[in-house]
Amino acid sequence: MPAPSVASLFVGILVGLIIGYVVWECAYAFIPSLRNSKYHITESVRVSIQPTTEVDDFRDDSQLIDLYNFTYIMNQPSCTPNIHALVLVPSAPENRDKRKLIRQTWANFVELPLHKSNIPFRVVFMLGIPDTETSQAELERENFEYDDMVQGSFVDSYENMTYKHVMAMKWFLTFCGNSKILIKVDDDVFLNTPQLMIYLHNTMLHNQLPQTDNHGDDRVTNISKPLKLLFRQQRDLLFCNRKIGVRVHRSYRFRWHASYRSYPNKTYPPYCPGYGIVYSADVVRRLYDAAQRAKFFWIDDVHITGLLAKQLNIRIVPAQAYTVFCARNQPTCDVLQDKSGDSDPHEYLFSYSPTYDQMHNMWQLHLGRLRDYIFMDVEKRVSHVDSFETELW
Ligand SMILES: *[C@@H]1O[C@H](CO)[C@@H](O)[C@H](O)[C@H]1NC(C)=O
Ligand SMILES: *[C@@H]1O[C@H](CO)[C@@H](O)[C@H](O)[C@H]1NC(C)=O
Ligand SMILES: *[C@@H]1O[C@H](CO)[C@@H](O)[C@H](O)[C@H]1NC(C)=O
Ligand SMILES: *[C@@H]1O[C@H](CO)[C@@H](O)[C@H](O)[C@H]1NC(C)=O
Repeated sequence: MPAPSVASLFVGILVGLIIGYVVWECAYAFIPSLRNSKYHITESVRVSIQPTTEVDDFRDDSQLIDLYNFTYIMNQPSCTPNIHALVLVPSAPENRDKRKLIRQTWANFVELPLHKSNIPFRVVFMLGIPDTETSQAELERENFEYDDMVQGSFVDSYENMTYKHVMAMKWFLTFCGNSKILIKVDDDVFLNTPQLMIYLHNTMLHNQLPQTDNHGDDRVTNISKPLKLLFRQQRDLLFCNRKIGVRVHRSYRFRWHASYRSYPNKTYPPYCPGYGIVYSADVVRRLYDAAQRAKFFWIDDVHITGLLAKQLNIRIVPAQAYTVFCARNQPTCDVLQDKSGDSDPHEYLFSYSPTYDQMHNMWQLHLGRLRDYIFMDVEKRVSHVDSFETELW
């Protein structure tokens, strides 16, 4: 009798599958090693309602590379939807004066000629735990005053910079997921936020290059095409003043040394020096996922923007023309290395290691340029109302 045997075979397979499933679930629930062997997926991820095709490690809030007890000791609210660029500044606890100078200059939103809700970026400082309780209390007072600091549960030290870099990426992905780009700058850099406003504004309001490119008469919006296009690039963006062929130091006498065991090659792949890096959100995501799984390597910029970026085939877009190095005897640092003529001497993004006075002077200079830009843009709007697209990114 063929029919019943097919039916019983079917029922048999079904029962077998159910028993197998139940046994697997029990094993999974009761044998911790099975549960912890992979990526330390927490309950919240397992029961997550959102279907995911990949393992979303960043949902596992308590993992930071090889630390499984990671928490934020100080935290900040999530980004509002108007934030298109998040600026994260790794800073050592003792660099209070540097943070203060940044708050007085390029992160001084009160002085920007715009309503707060129209400012498309936000600045947050990234810290670890200082070595004394007194400094912790000071940090907490500072944060009470400014509300712009995030602190992770690892000791703030040189060797732990990779934790801070990956924490910055984690924070971006968890609390600022709608932002299109992440900008990481050191706390001794002038980030040209007025210029950043112009780029972001151009990107947000114009889906094509501004009309003024065809007119020779508009001075202020004469921004070089490469950078305008770059800021419109929403994917695959890793933009920095790329370093190439840097030799590995083996001796402890060098600050940036790496053992043969931790990195055997003689030179590093191209990487971004940490003082100024722009990442698109997808690049942050890919680098973060890789960094969470990779073996810890202490030189964060080499590890994340060099080794991991190379593994993931993420190409660095060189920002040489948008970085200036400050000469001590000048009031500002507006000297571009690239004199090819396609860029305006004021449109740099990163100005490396300015003095206190240079920081203030550059801030005033670029604030003035932003005011001119806004004024001209308003005039243009009045004359070309119909040619404007107000669609956001
Ligand atoms: C997490 O922290 C607790 C104590 O706070 C410690 O006992 C435990 O070993 C830590 N777990 C890991 C994985 O580091
Ligand atoms: C960070 O660096 C210090 C040494 O300065 C070390 O003691 C500590 O274990 C490191 N790691 C973490 C996760 O804090
Ligand atoms: C604007 O750009 C054009 C061509 O790129 C250049 O010739 C001109 O000098 C620039 N104007 C200013 C004020 O930078
Ligand atoms: C190390 O060097 C070899 C040979 O030059 C190369 O194939 C490999 O990709 C390098 N590894 C890294 C991490 O750059």
